[in-house]
Amino acid sequence: MQFFIDTANLDHIREATELGILDGVTTNPSLMAKEGITGDNAVLKHYRDICEIVGPGRDVSAEVISTEFKAMVTEGKKLAELHENIVVKVPMIKDGVKAIAHFSELGIRTNCTLVFSAGQAILAAKAGATYVSPFIGRIDDISWDGMTLIKDIFEIYSTTGYETAILAASIRNPLHIVQAAKAGADVVTCPLSAILGLLQHPLTDIGLEKFLADYKKAGG
Ligand code: E4P
Repeated sequence: MQFFIDTANLDHIREATELGILDGVTTNPSLMAKEGITGDNAVLKHYRDICEIVGPGRDVSAEVISTEFKAMVTEGKKLAELHENIVVKVPMIKDGVKAIAHFSELGIRTNCTLVFSAGQAILAAKAGATYVSPFIGRIDDISWDGMTLIKDIFEIYSTTGYETAILAASIRNPLHIVQAAKAGADVVTCPLSAILGLLQHPLTDIGLEKFLADYKKAGG
């Protein structure tokens, strides 16, 4: 399973890259705004900076703001031309599906975002999306079960042979990462806190403290 970081924060992206486990980055307009990145030129520069930090071969999702087919295509092409790492992120709306199918024909990689049902995931795959992003945290937020959606999509894609990668998004904590791995997600995209949370275990801390104390006691 691949690990993407879900942020536009360059320090977090650097830290995850240095950890040696990062496969890619996802962003969205809210995450860009959170970092104070506004205006077309600043946004495009920020995407380029992210691509340079993560290095070659690591996908970086850049989301279109347009909601109409022609505008989405123009915007998506501009984003794709920015850097070879860029994957065009397109919302699961009618024009979005049309745009994904068009990008697929052009060989432009896409991430279909704002997916909340198995039916939407079927459409995204049929249109040729490279990634489909089911938002598990937001489903949990309304007391439904986000992980069931990952399992359903995994079953459908396995049965049908769709090649779209399941990118579990809207991950809120380390347990989501573990559950998404069990459910068959190809990729998880998570905040740095959730990735670092995977490290935590009190028995590791207690064990290490004892090993170091015994080493000292033995005269090391
Ligand atoms: C990723 O592609 C999504 O934009 C992101 O995971 C949404 O996460 P949130 O529900 O925590 O905002």
